Amino acid sequence: MKKFYLTTAIDYANGSPHIGHAYEKVLADTIIRTRRLEGEECYFLTGLDEHGQKVAETAQRQSITPQALCGRVAENFKALCARLTVDYDDYVRTTDERHKAVVRKVLQKLYDGGEIYRAEYTGLYSTRAERFVQQRDKIDGRWPEDIGEPVELKETNYFFRLSHYQGWLVDFLNKNPDFVVPAFRQKQVLEFLKEPINDLCISRPKSRLSWGIELPFDSDYVTYVWFDALINYISAVGYGEERFGDYWPVDFHVIGKDILVPAHAIYWPIMLHALGISLPRHLLAHGWWLARGGEKISKSLGNAAQPLDYVDLYGADAFRFFLLREMVTGQDGNFSHDLFVARYNADLANDLGNLVSRLVNMVGRYCLGKIPAPASEESLDQEIKESARRLIPSVRMEYENFAFHAGLEQIFSFVGQLNRYVETRAPWQLAKRKDDPVAVDNLNTTLFFAAEGVRIVAELLRPIMPEIGPEILYRLGVTPVDTWKNLPQETSLAGNEVLPGEILFPKIEWEEHGEMPSVPI
Ligand code: MSP
Repeated sequence: MKKFYLTTAIDYANGSPHIGHAYEKVLADTIIRTRRLEGEECYFLTGLDEHGQKVAETAQRQSITPQALCGRVAENFKALCARLTVDYDDYVRTTDERHKAVVRKVLQKLYDGGEIYRAEYTGLYSTRAERFVQQRDKIDGRWPEDIGEPVELKETNYFFRLSHYQGWLVDFLNKNPDFVVPAFRQKQVLEFLKEPINDLCISRPKSRLSWGIELPFDSDYVTYVWFDALINYISAVGYGEERFGDYWPVDFHVIGKDILVPAHAIYWPIMLHALGISLPRHLLAHGWWLARGGEKISKSLGNAAQPLDYVDLYGADAFRFFLLREMVTGQDGNFSHDLFVARYNADLANDLGNLVSRLVNMVGRYCLGKIPAPASEESLDQEIKESARRLIPSVRMEYENFAFHAGLEQIFSFVGQLNRYVETRAPWQLAKRKDDPVAVDNLNTTLFFAAEGVRIVAELLRPIMPEIGPEILYRLGVTPVDTWKNLPQETSLAGNEVLPGEILFPKIEWEEHGEMPSVPI
């Protein structure tokens, strides 16, 4: 049966992981976890983009072979995934033999079909972007940072007939308005297609660059890195083999907004169409993390690795929570120490962490460690019950639409409600009135419904906080459900033994001041 198949971009092997890579992987992993909890069979692919000039140059600077550099970088990126509890099914490297074999097969097929031709071309070449550029790539009359100053180059190369398919692509996009998510990005693609597109130069002469996959029909050339890289999405799941149908068409390619046009929204659909392969179901283009003051966080700015320190300082789950709570999927987001601390302290340390430890302590102290059975319900209890009941489908819906920030907002607003419920009832007062049957009933009902609420919160947090969610359930004596389809609105938590544990989210001591923080990015 076809699985829900999701990919991330494959990262360039010429640098260290930074918050952008971390975010994309956490977003993809969270989507996969929600789908698994919805009962779907899933497949999650990520990997490393190892060829091209930049990798060759970096290796040269470090006086090692490109292959040795890639080996090192692959370990770094895999370690990042482990640190972030990103649980991929497969990690593809473009130097894998399985990948290279498919690239050669694709090239030969397109060449035999007359889709690739040889020609001499004179144009502006950007070493930084590793492609021929056009005047239209200028922004406000200047070459953008990712292109740099291009040089004029005259070269014989191989070209893929991209322009031939422009009309087809426009038609396809018009017929499939939800191909690119969010919708405003699809408009940008169509905007780009208003001007004629050039054929794509898919080769690099070995005299200039040897670090790549040799063209099967001309050993003097290697394959252009983007043409090679995009093919990972099919090479990793057995293009040409019977099992390919278990994965393809891919459900979502999760990518950053910078690589939507032209690579994923123009080259890739046309490559697939020319090969007679069905198109991806969707491209999900996320925004960028920006540093304080709107500065771009990228390798070239040299400040990129630092946000990842927060993973080690405050835990993977807190970091994942921050990324998904602060960023509206598809839009840009800001990372700063103040923002992180404010979110962490308010939502995690004060609201959720305190609620859990208070609850477990109260059950321990007033009920001998066992969650009591509810007694009579008053309107206050019914309100909580009703909010919990509404929360489940509502959060699932937000998650389905990748609105993780909105799902989390609802969860934490419910956590606030639970805290107010406990405050209002004040079980510590009720516990003093042991001879008053109303007080005893109220105490039991309150602790029961608070525990029920926490159970639902913990379940709904699982995709975003894969360690803390189950940990909270464990403290309530609950086994996490296999699928949310079996998530009961009410359980018989009564009688469960609670387990006290360490503070989930120790408060970060921090006074906000206008100066740069001590752990700046
Ligand atoms: N190798 C190409 C992708 C090939 S996919 C067939 C590439 N690599 S990358 O390492 O530069 O970027 C990997 C992903 O990280 C991209 O989707 C990119 O958008 C994302 N990010 C890089 N910096 C980012 C931020 N500051 N914020 C969010 N994501 C950004 O492009």
